[in-house]
Amino acid sequence: MKSIAIIYGSSTGNTKYAARLVAEKLASYSPVLKDLADVSPEELLEPGVLLLGAPTWSIGELQDDWDSFFPQIKKLDLTGKIVALFGMGDAEGYPDTFVDALGILYDEFAKTGCTFVGEVSTEGYTFDDSQALRNGVFVGLPLDEDNEGNKTDSRVEAWVNSLKPHLD
Ligand SMILES: Cc1cc2nc3c(=O)[nH]c(=O)nc-3n(C[C@H](O)[C@H](O)[C@H](O)COP(=O)(O)O)c2cc1C
Repeated sequence: MKSIAIIYGSSTGNTKYAARLVAEKLASYSPVLKDLADVSPEELLEPGVLLLGAPTWSIGELQDDWDSFFPQIKKLDLTGKIVALFGMGDAEGYPDTFVDALGILYDEFAKTGCTFVGEVSTEGYTFDDSQALRNGVFVGLPLDEDNEGNKTDSRVEAWVNSLKPHLD
């Protein structure tokens, strides 16, 4: 079983809530849950699996903690590590930049040599555009606590189950 860290940035608590849900559903893997505000870049080198949570703020931009951390990302060597992204957004309020932060982080983490898992179909999401799309699928799990909080649990559950083959 690989060691797992769940690391999130969150300004108003929604991504923190989602990160806790992910941790609960992976409890048998004993993941470590960390707020990015308290994480040094070196800590990303320790676990075999990184599950990274990021909301989108400021119209298609990174949340503050991710924005501060961003310059450190490309310096990391994450070769051999598994990375999966989950994001928080508002598809009604910001339909043209829905969960853009996922795509911004995806492009930067791609420079580290990591292997991405956890992409998600657009089926069931209503939005106009997103930087988080690659080849028509989301690079990670989009969540929307502002409008579809009732779907968060089932979306996290399905996503976590899709990750499990990569965690052993
Ligand atoms: C000023 C502002 C800008 C936002 N910009 C976006 C955006 O561009 N795209 C998006 O999907 N959500 C956007 N959101 C919605 C947030 O991502 C959403 O409320 C999220 O749940 C916040 O997560 P957090 O509580 O973990 O910080 C924005 C919200 C605010 C208040």
